[in-house]
Amino acid sequence: MYEQVSHSLLNDILDELKPDIRKRDLRHFYTRLGANFYAIYSLFHHLYGQRDDFKQQMLRLVEVMAVQYTKRNTDLKRLDVERENDHEWFLNQQWVGMALYTDGFAGNLKGVQSHLPYIQELGVNMMHLMPMLECPAGASDGGYAVSNFRDIDERVGTLEELRDLAKDMRRRNILLTLDVVVNHTSDEHAWAQKAREGEKKFQDYYYVFDNRDIPDMFEETMPEVFPETSPGNFTFDETMNKWVMTVFNSYQWDLNYSNPAVFIEMLDIILFWANQGADIVRLDAVAFLWKKIGTTSQNEREAHLILQLMKDCSQVTAPGVLFIAEAIVAPVEIIKYFGEDAVIAKECEIAYNATYMALLWEAVATKNAKLLNQSILSLPNKLDRATWLNYVRCHDDIGLGFDDADIAKVGYDPYSHRRFLVDYFTGAYDTSPARGQPFGRNEKTGDARISGALASLVGLEAALESNDHEAVDQSVNQILLLHSMIMSFGGIPLLYYGDEIGTLNDCTFLQDENKAHDNRWMHRPKIDWSKAELRQQHGTVEQRIYDGLKKMIAVRKSTPAFADYNNRTLIESENPHLFVFIRNNPFMQNDNVLVVANFDSFPQSLTLSDLANRGHFAFGQLRDLYSGESPQQFNDQLVVPAYRFYWLTDRTAY
Ligand code: GLC
Repeated sequence: MYEQVSHSLLNDILDELKPDIRKRDLRHFYTRLGANFYAIYSLFHHLYGQRDDFKQQMLRLVEVMAVQYTKRNTDLKRLDVERENDHEWFLNQQWVGMALYTDGFAGNLKGVQSHLPYIQELGVNMMHLMPMLECPAGASDGGYAVSNFRDIDERVGTLEELRDLAKDMRRRNILLTLDVVVNHTSDEHAWAQKAREGEKKFQDYYYVFDNRDIPDMFEETMPEVFPETSPGNFTFDETMNKWVMTVFNSYQWDLNYSNPAVFIEMLDIILFWANQGADIVRLDAVAFLWKKIGTTSQNEREAHLILQLMKDCSQVTAPGVLFIAEAIVAPVEIIKYFGEDAVIAKECEIAYNATYMALLWEAVATKNAKLLNQSILSLPNKLDRATWLNYVRCHDDIGLGFDDADIAKVGYDPYSHRRFLVDYFTGAYDTSPARGQPFGRNEKTGDARISGALASLVGLEAALESNDHEAVDQSVNQILLLHSMIMSFGGIPLLYYGDEIGTLNDCTFLQDENKAHDNRWMHRPKIDWSKAELRQQHGTVEQRIYDGLKKMIAVRKSTPAFADYNNRTLIESENPHLFVFIRNNPFMQNDNVLVVANFDSFPQSLTLSDLANRGHFAFGQLRDLYSGESPQQFNDQLVVPAYRFYWLTDRTAY
């Protein structure tokens, strides 16, 4: 849209840009800036227009975008153009991710590089390296308390090594995902240190208060993230003699985005990592970016505007780079991180599908898919050019963020149902083989989340200990079943390192005083590479899981119906144990895949004639794409063995 005010401002800004910036070849930069400027100006003005220094801040913003553009290397600029031309590239089914801690996976960055063949052998081609920036030597919330946003923690390597790794990954066509922890810094970050020393400029980077008046007002409506270990949302800083907002741990200071300087610094940091070779930037804790008295200070409209602004600016400098929203919030809120009131994503192109993850676990515990069906039905379709990150486990706890109305609709009481789930996964429930632990129990609200490794949560640990072969088989099948759900749902599946070989809970964190209080470390393992070798030995648990996943990944990649174009139809089957949906190939008619999953420990059946009558599927000879076999049928009943999934096609040659 042409708009005079913003365009004359843009002209002024371009005149004022430093000569050394102007001298460079900025052709692409200028076109993109021109195309995005009205949006950038409007958002920036909405957020910061009331300030006297608005124009200087706007100039500074453009300068940051321009300088980072001049630093972007030609390889990355070429990729930007390629991705602009093929702008839906990431919706393709070929992408499969894995999240890992550099040190836990392979010691350091060099170690990760030397294990790229392992990742490739599995078929993974997107790697999320968990935070590895400079952070305090002691407690650092697993790297999420950053003390220097522009360097790698020396315990895992150097910036040079990261750039090297990124280059190697590009050569191998593996995408690199890096974190930018946008909501807070460590209290050891230089900004926090300067704030402590009394520099007003840096105190304004955070929420700092002389007394408890304002903090108390905030506390009335703000929930607690870590109620057991870091109750409340403010911490008293002795040196500063002031209260500072610390929503997460007491050593993580929340950044104040009502200050444009903070926005500009963080944008600069995002672009800095884009220039080191990140294809995707994971924006941490985005729901928390705006704080408002009288609210939960989560999912505020301004948090969305900030993300839109970050996206618009980043599209000018590094348009090939995608954003992942890490917003583990209520189902109806998560979906907004693609961009509110938009047709195509205009905030983050990718968002963690925390709803689906939690629902899958609910189905494991109840052995039925009632809530899973109900909740997925209630979810609105996401925007175009947006995709889910579907996962079973990650480095965090499992939050039971379902919609209470959905729980009630399927006949459970929300409070007791959540209680049952926590009891089930922490092994407090009689028949449960799960070995998780409660995390973040809040005595005031009765809430709790769950920690634990995938394999231990589905009973593999208990089964191996008791040498119960049948139970081992069941756990392996459940691990494969859960993964089949994230591979076929629509979106990018994100595996969690160690799960591909059935890694169990790791309780060594209890010996480390900086970790002992945080049981999420029980599922942040150090990979035992001799165990990984067992994947080569037929019949081992490692081989069965690894090879199962490898095959699933290969089938996913060659199944266009698994690309993500809102091309999923949920099928409400009469059998409550089954989760059933159809994926259709968006590029070819009548090329459908019927996905059927049985969460029960007994075989279950699906009435095929019902489906055919509804015109969903033409049932010829059904063939399971995963096993290559035809499933058992009895008359019009499709038989689904316990904890099994099918990816069925009715096409003879695929
Ligand atoms: C995100 C991270 C989590 C961390 C929190 C605070 O939710 O995934 O591990 O504790 O942010 O940074």
